[in-house]
Amino acid sequence: MSLEHILHEMRLFKSAEELKLMRRAGEVSAAGHVKAMQVCQPGLYEYEIEAELIHQFVKHGLRAVAYPSIVAAGKNACVLHYTDNDGKLKSGDLLLIDAGAECDHYAADITRTFPISGRFTEPQRALYELVLDAQLAAIEQIKPGAAWHLAHDASVEVLTRGLVKLGLLKGRVPKLIKDEKYKQFYMHRIGHWLGMDVHDVGDYKVDKEWRLLEPGMVMTVEPGLYIPADCDSVDKKWRGIGIRIEDDVLVTAEGYEILTSAVPKTVAEIEAVMQGG
Ligand code: GLY
Ligand code: MN
Ligand code: MN
Repeated sequence: MSLEHILHEMRLFKSAEELKLMRRAGEVSAAGHVKAMQVCQPGLYEYEIEAELIHQFVKHGLRAVAYPSIVAAGKNACVLHYTDNDGKLKSGDLLLIDAGAECDHYAADITRTFPISGRFTEPQRALYELVLDAQLAAIEQIKPGAAWHLAHDASVEVLTRGLVKLGLLKGRVPKLIKDEKYKQFYMHRIGHWLGMDVHDVGDYKVDKEWRLLEPGMVMTVEPGLYIPADCDSVDKKWRGIGIRIEDDVLVTAEGYEILTSAVPKTVAEIEAVMQGG
């Protein structure tokens, strides 16, 4: 008999001891992201920001990254698994960072997106706040007994509604969702199990039905919007903007606990940290 499935189920449910390691991975990774916001300025290269993240991880005793860091300025953020990290940071662009450290083999997986100059432009702010609303709505779905897909569906609903309001999609929201029109700008799932691997083992469906969440499971919640630079179906001001916001969320008996909440997330919090607040 293959032990694989039994082992994967064991990995899906975290013990108190494992959660200590995941909280530490989350805290230290958060420190790396805060540092990146503090040192960010136009003229630096993406790899210089990557170096700051790794410096923080190692300085706190976590000497392994959970996965290759993504540091993507401007339209590079629209490339989902961008890891070249050799572009120059330009004032007026956003910087998307997806990076996490490992603590005794347990991963953190955090994404933040912020303005290189320290202040969001109006179009950037509008799309950012939409992604944030989608993330918060998705996180609110997380509790024991909730089916796995509810968080994803919540993000799709909020993003589609917002894209219509801002004029990037045209039509009726239920039909746009049914026709998956949002997928041209939001083409991945809401998240994945997290643990010893960044995309950890564990079934997402049981008997073809979406799995119900249970205490001890940890998943990422990471909606995004990626407007290709050559997308001529939308106004110029939106083109080339890529935004993702990702946190690591533990299912608890009462609902959820965010393991990565130490990184600023609202527009006001991000702008304050970048202005030295
Ligand atoms: N860092 C990989 C992911 O977010 O899934
Ligand atoms: Mn992830
Ligand atoms: Mn990630």
